[in-house]
Amino acid sequence: MRIDVITLFPEVFGPLHSSIPARAQDKGLLELHLHWLREFGAGPHHQVDDTPFGGGPGMVMTCGPIFDCLDTIPDSPERLVIYPTPQGKPFLQQDAIELASQSHLVFICGHYEGVDQRVRDTLVDREYSIGDYVLSSGELSSMVIADAVIRLIPGVIKPESYQQDSFFKKGLDHPHYTKPADFRGLQVPEVLLSGHHKNIEKWREERAIETTRKVRPDLL
Ligand code: ADE
Repeated sequence: MRIDVITLFPEVFGPLHSSIPARAQDKGLLELHLHWLREFGAGPHHQVDDTPFGGGPGMVMTCGPIFDCLDTIPDSPERLVIYPTPQGKPFLQQDAIELASQSHLVFICGHYEGVDQRVRDTLVDREYSIGDYVLSSGELSSMVIADAVIRLIPGVIKPESYQQDSFFKKGLDHPHYTKPADFRGLQVPEVLLSGHHKNIEKWREERAIETTRKVRPDLL
């Protein structure tokens, strides 16, 4: 998969250079390109925003730099342009699964009051919100979406690892324990030490349902 990111702050993308996303790149399963939008800004100050027509607070990101930057990114019918925004469709695990089968994603990171509507109307294929709250910028939401997608690219992690994740089946994941079995008197549930796979599976399913019922009954 190829991922391009159009951003005013390429330096904040550390999380996509470490852990699982780094491994995906090392394995040749992901090609990441960060584009510094400021380079496409207008005039001596490389301006990328302006005041909103009709008045009101804040600034709006202008069309020119974003259109020009996108023009430098290879285009094809497979290219999918994503604009993370609080006004987008809620981004769910199902969306991550669907995006993981794409070959080329481009993220546009918004700032201030967001981008000129003409960017959204003509360049953007998908708009996603990562939750009902407002972040300062689209960098964090782009990283959240990209990370959720990257770990699902075939070959990046073992299918067994993500098939037991929260949201993969309906509901949340079960609790996990590791060694030592007794830590300062805190014990690991007996069943997990029993080696009885059927009972372990049953215990995990029950704990997963119990947690989901308690904190996210809407998922059941
Ligand atoms: N940008 C700012 N807030 C956001 C949100 N909740 N989801 C996606 N992008 C955003």
